[in-house]
Amino acid sequence: KFEVLAVGRKPRESREFADDLRQPVSTSKDVRDFDDSFWTKFSANIEYLTGDPGDPHFYPKLRDKLEQKQHAQSSPNVLYYLSVPPSLAEPIIRGLGDAGLAKPDQGWARIIVEKPFGHDLASAQQLNAVVGSVFDEHDIYRIDHYLGKETVQNILMFRFGNSLFEPVWNRNFVERVEIVGAETLGIENRAGFYEETGALRDMVANHLLQCIALTAMEPPIAFEADSVREEKVKVFRSIRPMTVEQVAERTVRGQYGPGEIDGKAVPGYREEPGVAKDSVTETFAAIEFYIDNWRWAGVPFRVRTGKRLSRSRTEITLHFKPTPHTLFAEDREAMEPNRIVIRVQPNEGIEIDFSAKRPGTQMKASVVRMDFSYRDAFGTRSPAAYETLLLDAMRGDPTLFTRSDEVEAEWRIITPIEDAWKQLPAPDFPNYPAGTEGPELPY
Ligand code: BG6
Repeated sequence: KFEVLAVGRKPRESREFADDLRQPVSTSKDVRDFDDSFWTKFSANIEYLTGDPGDPHFYPKLRDKLEQKQHAQSSPNVLYYLSVPPSLAEPIIRGLGDAGLAKPDQGWARIIVEKPFGHDLASAQQLNAVVGSVFDEHDIYRIDHYLGKETVQNILMFRFGNSLFEPVWNRNFVERVEIVGAETLGIENRAGFYEETGALRDMVANHLLQCIALTAMEPPIAFEADSVREEKVKVFRSIRPMTVEQVAERTVRGQYGPGEIDGKAVPGYREEPGVAKDSVTETFAAIEFYIDNWRWAGVPFRVRTGKRLSRSRTEITLHFKPTPHTLFAEDREAMEPNRIVIRVQPNEGIEIDFSAKRPGTQMKASVVRMDFSYRDAFGTRSPAAYETLLLDAMRGDPTLFTRSDEVEAEWRIITPIEDAWKQLPAPDFPNYPAGTEGPELPY
């Protein structure tokens, strides 16, 4: 049995809070299969304590509440979970530390900190220093829910659990890598958060950089926290920060205007409640990264993400080089280079495209597809990303969480882009209608 203690800023009835929790916040698969009877049992364990996280007097109250719980013989272990804007993380962590809530006499106290971890390199370093002065590093869990996705973890299994793919997984064979994180969703009543964050910080700085790291990293010496994280950090360190000129050439930002999604009219970003009428926050970002190391030098990693695009999909595609010589010259058109597509979501799986001889007396080619689908192969539902990650944090396994140096290495890549965007002339927003593929890209 475990208890869930929720803390919020505004006084609300716990019933209302419970109702709120059961509202799907997105249309992603993570909210399917909602089980009412399980929820009724589970929600009986939820208690709600109201307080202002910026007020130091709040934390002794939280301590009393936790002590009451512990006297009532629940576990002495506490897992704090900060799903708050970056600016609130610091006062909360300090409050927990000052009230003696970070290092209990019995059991453990761990803390999960949601992304974005800070809003640039300097604030991430500052937040690392604060959380590191209050909690021990092995009790700090910087969460990026993409790492909890079955298909994202499967990148490592696909690459290092098979001997077939790794020999061609490099600059000798791969021409370019594309990573798409497209959503039809808008900002879903999160204007306050999104206006501060934008697509680059919300999706690229964490989720999509993690996809790059897992696709590009060297094999770790073991599947355990430090070995895996060590290899990911090396990838981030090999992505050189861009100059302003490189940012101008290799990045595109966009913001959606009014349009149509699934046949329904939707407002533009600037018309969303809570968004400034002249907002220059980007809802779309496309960036071409280069990883300057032995394996990947010269191979572009093209990443793009956006809200209110024509369809939702997260995919990693490796485009292979054409064959060195064309044997079937008269059918050159049909000789598409090979592709491996990792479908992170939806329709989770992997596809491999290759040429096959068309039936007939002539030597004509067609592209055919080998398709692995999680649903068909295993027929079972994967745990939602947060199920995996919350359980890992309770068990004390940080493999799928981001280490302090990793988060700072991510910001070292992203902050120069943010800074350059401030210096470069602002694009004429909105520059793509909702329901389209986003603004035009130079590649
Ligand atoms: C969140 C972002 O971290 O990830 C959201 O804040 C985004 O803006 C979401 O919609 C995407 O997650 P998923 O699991 O639905 O791909």
